[in-house]
Amino acid sequence: MAKIVTPYNDETRGKKEQVEEMFDNIARRYDFLNHLLSLGIDISWRKKAVKYIGGINPRKVLDIATGTGDFALEALVLKPDKVTGLDISEGMMKYGREKAKAMHVENVVEFVKGDSEKMEFTDNSFDAITVGFGVRNFENLEAGLREMLRVLKPGGRVAILEASQPPNTIIRFVFGLYFNYIVPAVGRLFSKDVRAYTYLPESVSVFPSGFEFIKILENIGFRNVEWKPLTLGACALYTMEK
Ligand SMILES: C[S@@+](CC[C@H](N)C(=O)[O-])C[C@H]1O[C@@H](n2cnc3c(N)ncnc32)[C@H](O)[C@@H]1O
Repeated sequence: MAKIVTPYNDETRGKKEQVEEMFDNIARRYDFLNHLLSLGIDISWRKKAVKYIGGINPRKVLDIATGTGDFALEALVLKPDKVTGLDISEGMMKYGREKAKAMHVENVVEFVKGDSEKMEFTDNSFDAITVGFGVRNFENLEAGLREMLRVLKPGGRVAILEASQPPNTIIRFVFGLYFNYIVPAVGRLFSKDVRAYTYLPESVSVFPSGFEFIKILENIGFRNVEWKPLTLGACALYTMEK
């Protein structure tokens, strides 16, 4: 079984509670640090994922672990009837709601507090689902994936983006220096949470990636599961259907 990495290594509390607290803590600086530490490339990753779900012209889109809503707002290029962003962190969604308001799209994008591992939506509710850098933070990965399959309509599409480790040894070494040393240092400098940007590389290092993750998704019941390394493998895009 994979090692469980939690934000604060607090054995008296579950991962979910710690994850919620951590994202509430870093919410104010999340977008700034996200774009800074990825050199703005995260924007292009979300665009690629949205292009994939756009292939079925979805009317109802669910963005799981929506955070500050960047994925949910990106999905608006598909002109859906409704985008629902779901997250356990109210602190993160506060900024998502502000962005939606500034863009005058509050009537299309809604933000709902909820747990991806136990969603309150009925079966077959959504045409498409996106998850950006969220699955790694789930307390029970398989429960979250099963819920995704349940609320997705037959024929619906899912796009998951997750941070990963570059397959090439030299690139992985150079990237590792950046990810394990520079990212935590910059994160500590700008965010109020000293652990958050150390938890990031720690959690990526134990998360199943590439074909290992594909196998889990197929066992859950997804079809046509594929993955694509992005930016030399620093990020991975997983695509699949129900
Ligand atoms: C790294 S942020 C990603 C935000 C956004 N998707 C993006 O692309 O930038 C991860 C988010 O996952 C949320 N999260 C973690 N576990 C969750 C769960 N069980 N249910 C819902 N949201 C969860 C966190 O609260 C956090 O906002």
